[in-house]
Amino acid sequence: MQTTRANLLLTATTLMVAATVQAKTVIFFPPPTTSYVVYHSGVAAAVASLGHQVWLCLPHFMVERNLVKDKSVHILEYGQHLGNLEYQIYTRTRIVDKFWEGQTPREMEALYDVSTVVTEIASDILSDKKFVDQVRNLKADLFVLESIPFNMNMIILPYALDIPYALIGTIHDVVLSKVPFSPATTPFPVYRFSDRMTFLQRVTSTIYYLMRINFDLFYDSSLVSKFAPHKPYKSINDLAANAEIFIAEVDHILDYPRTMLPNTKLIGGSSASPAKPLVGEFQKFVDEATSGIIVMSFGGSVVNLAPYISNKMVSAFKQLDLRVVWKINMTSPDPKQIMTSLWIPQNDLLGHQKAKLFVSHCGKNGQYEALYHGVPILCLPIYGDQGYNSERVRVKQLGLYTDMREASADELAAMMKEIIYGGKYAENMKKASRLYRELYKVPKHEAAYWLDHVMTYGGAYMRSAGQQMPWYQLYVLDVVAFLLAIALSVLLCTAAIARKCYQIYRGSSTGKKTKHQ
Ligand SMILES: *[C@@H]1O[C@H](CO)[C@@H](O)[C@H](O)[C@H]1NC(C)=O
Repeated sequence: MQTTRANLLLTATTLMVAATVQAKTVIFFPPPTTSYVVYHSGVAAAVASLGHQVWLCLPHFMVERNLVKDKSVHILEYGQHLGNLEYQIYTRTRIVDKFWEGQTPREMEALYDVSTVVTEIASDILSDKKFVDQVRNLKADLFVLESIPFNMNMIILPYALDIPYALIGTIHDVVLSKVPFSPATTPFPVYRFSDRMTFLQRVTSTIYYLMRINFDLFYDSSLVSKFAPHKPYKSINDLAANAEIFIAEVDHILDYPRTMLPNTKLIGGSSASPAKPLVGEFQKFVDEATSGIIVMSFGGSVVNLAPYISNKMVSAFKQLDLRVVWKINMTSPDPKQIMTSLWIPQNDLLGHQKAKLFVSHCGKNGQYEALYHGVPILCLPIYGDQGYNSERVRVKQLGLYTDMREASADELAAMMKEIIYGGKYAENMKKASRLYRELYKVPKHEAAYWLDHVMTYGGAYMRSAGQQMPWYQLYVLDVVAFLLAIALSVLLCTAAIARKCYQIYRGSSTGKKTKHQ
């Protein structure tokens, strides 16, 4: 008896030790656009640093670009025949060009356009037999998928190959993760709403969520039967709800407090990390700045600005005595004050003590880097979630927000001065930054921790029963309907009985009257 127990204990211990030290295989699948690939590769490297074998799926046209800096992350190439997918997305949707031309961005429409292109691309990737075989042969323990709605068709791949999957993404998407929520306090980032909505905003938000819950707005569930014919049919929303874990690159400091379930982990933005010292020409340029620097960038994909915008920015910068490091495809009109470059070490520049202002389109990555390093932001959004991201900066008073097409150079300069010298924004940002670092540590390590955790323990123990129910059951609409039906039946029965009684009473009283007569 004693020995058996000891043996069991020994076996259990050995198994546990084996489970903790055994390297697992993890595959990341970001959408084929630069900013997603960059932040996924950061998280992938953090997972690799825990001793796992990590692969990142990269379209052929991106392989040469050296976006995945960490050599411990292996590249799994796909789409040899697909060409430049990012270019296709931008040229076919013309999101950025339409913006320069002065068209009002309709975020929903743009997201829908992107989704249409990306759905076609997903079909191509899922039909790429060589790629699918490579994924199968890796016998991965976890498939990590970007949860931005337009990437969700790719969830069919791990489902078809029986690989457990995790979702990571820019948005804490309550529809995909089936978190009980109220449309009145949960703005979806295509709208420029905060968590305090007007009545009309609440109407819009409710309609949006009803559509998302009932229809595939941004993905196509019919692809499930096409590419996983041997598996039971499930909608993409239902497949998503079965993820081992939902990691969202938001927080409650820069973003708004939201409802969560135990398997939702908010990590803040993973691209932010402690700054490394500047080197080369960047170091020289910043060292020689006497009254601080401005960092300006419109992210990974927008380096070609309409000339009327870049001219305006130059004249605004000229009104300040700060140096500017600007990510743009342009020769500097004044190399003494303005340094232009196709690439900048953004996180390291923002982490430099001389950084006073970040002029940004407000993509998620850059915004979290600014928060991490406590640099206030002038928000000049272009499309997608950037308007929403800018609004949260305005609401939380961490910077200012304007439409760069309409603001004049003088107005832009005035806003920059207000942010830099007004005190309030810099102070709020410093405070938010301290709180953020206290709570979120190094976000990519947090993400890696949770991915490792669900590979060891699985995510089922954190899954709420509600995540496996249809929405009408979760919100007890069936129960409410049932109770209303009972109440209505009782009411109708009572009314019928009352009427009958009344008729009998009247009948008998008229009878009496007749008798008397
Ligand atoms: C930069 O601009 C030049 C000339 O306008 C263009 O030929 C080139 O493709 C651009 N580079 C990038 C990376 O967009």
